[in-house]
Amino acid sequence: MKILGIESSCDETAAAVVEDGRIVKSNIIATSLDEHKLYGGVVPEIASRRHAESISGVVKEALETANCTMEDIDAVAVTFAPGLIGALLVGVNFAKGLAEATGKPLVPVHHLRSHIASNYLTSDVEPPFLCLVVSGGHSHIVAVNSYTDYKIIGKTRDDAAGEALDKAGRSMGLPYPGGISIDKISKDGNADAFAFPHPRVDGAPYDFSFSGLKTSVINIIHNSQQKGEEINIKDLAASFQKNVVGCLVSNLEKVAKDFGYNKIVLAGGVSANSLLRSECEKLCQKHKWQLFLPELKYCGDNGAMVAAQGYYEFVAGVKADADLNAYATMPIDNVNF
Ligand code: KG4
Ligand code: ZN
Repeated sequence: MKILGIESSCDETAAAVVEDGRIVKSNIIATSLDEHKLYGGVVPEIASRRHAESISGVVKEALETANCTMEDIDAVAVTFAPGLIGALLVGVNFAKGLAEATGKPLVPVHHLRSHIASNYLTSDVEPPFLCLVVSGGHSHIVAVNSYTDYKIIGKTRDDAAGEALDKAGRSMGLPYPGGISIDKISKDGNADAFAFPHPRVDGAPYDFSFSGLKTSVINIIHNSQQKGEEINIKDLAASFQKNVVGCLVSNLEKVAKDFGYNKIVLAGGVSANSLLRSECEKLCQKHKWQLFLPELKYCGDNGAMVAAQGYYEFVAGVKADADLNAYATMPIDNVNF
């Protein structure tokens, strides 16, 4: 079964053809990242306009690269939530028009579910497993009970891990996205140079809180400026990254132990982080747990992960009508459309 996946939740316009949820036939991505860099973050209107310009060409290229026409496609899967609403609407409306015109079923896909599905593209992992989903907008520890049944066990109370890295990177004067910049320069920094607190959420041992850490970075920078002291940004970045990764990994360990999981999966843009990947490898070696990491090219937003999840939603009977809408927020474990 061949699924066409369409993604436009943030600044990537992407489309892909994937067979049986696992075999990537094509994966085309156009990004407006360079334009957003000028503003230090994604500008929603620019993202929407670039999606509108690129989407037709990206979908065409995805079909051509897969050696397909719409006749070969069994269903059109599209990211409908969560994300930037104007950006999502471009993909959703394009997918609706395409599905309607070609008589193909339309399958709505939750963005975080598709991030998790990026693991299906390069490994044979199957639910049930425990997944740490870390992106620019979300930080969740999720029990993936089946391809379409999820339960959030831990989540952030404020900023997502990616958001905290991006904001900290910005206050350090690093190029957007801060997560990638911090990962790069941390390799030459001393991760023990600065001490950060490990924020805990009272009464919620599996939840995260990252907004205080971001304030700590700003305070360190202001204090050094006031004292006229030079700050070593590589050391600051490495120390901050170590702390964020430490928070993620220690909660992941707690949940896996308390709930008895021995199959761990990572997903989302931040799962590309080299320290997070190596710390999860150490953790899983220590406990003899199985670890699955998405391939780097599938960590960020892409159409293949949407087609992969779309396949599993479709075989589970999920189908939308032509009145499908887009939603800026929607919990992964209670999807409505
Ligand atoms: O999943 P994603 O592409 O988009 C959302 O759904 O949000 O995630 C984007 C986030 C950004 O915050 C970016 O800084 C972060 O992923 N990111 C990284 C790395 N690559 C991307 N964070 C840390 N290290 C990386 N190597
Ligand atoms: Zn994403």
